[in-house]
Amino acid sequence: MRLLGLCGSLRAQSTNRRLLHAFAGAAPAGTTVTLHGSLGVLPIFNPDLEAQTPRPVLDLAGAVGACDGLLIACPEYAHGIPGGLKNALDWLVSRFEIPGKPVMLVHASARSLTAREHLREVLRTMSCRVYPGPEYEFHLIGRQAAEIDTLMRGERLRMAAVLGDFARFAGEAGR
Ligand SMILES: Cc1cc2nc3c(=O)[nH]c(=O)nc-3n(C[C@H](O)[C@H](O)[C@H](O)COP(=O)(O)O)c2cc1C
Repeated sequence: MRLLGLCGSLRAQSTNRRLLHAFAGAAPAGTTVTLHGSLGVLPIFNPDLEAQTPRPVLDLAGAVGACDGLLIACPEYAHGIPGGLKNALDWLVSRFEIPGKPVMLVHASARSLTAREHLREVLRTMSCRVYPGPEYEFHLIGRQAAEIDTLMRGERLRMAAVLGDFARFAGEAGR
């Protein structure tokens, strides 16, 4: 089971990215989590550009097409999805790689409830299979990198179990 991690934050010290790294380190045997590079390299979506799709978009689409499921960690900005992630999804929306793709949201904030619901709605509209939960949450806001890594080490078993549940859900795709 190959999972692709997408981070909705472009911050160098992003807690969401750290959370995804922790998931990668906790993956059970037979499951891998690979983080995609920064979504900040994508140009702003413009349907006129789809005839000659830019290379970073093709790279993202290829990675999405090659994975068995997406793991998305995303902050909330002003009760919305951050522009970088929404822009990436806009690029993917009319492509063949995304319909039916299993997706699980994981959360580095105990808040962000509005963006979560919005993101689920966007993903459902794109015909993704959104993992119905329970979704993983660990409030990391305000914590430093070293402290986060310590906390995440204590979460490895729970994370592995969450990934196992999602892998089973993803494996049911198309049945
Ligand atoms: C411009 C801005 C707007 C934000 N708006 C919200 C918000 O509406 N709701 C919320 O729960 N958090 C909000 N936050 C807090 C971020 O969601 C929080 O800092 C996030 O978890 C950081 O993620 P990161 O460490 O991965 O960058 C906002 C942060 C910024 C910088």
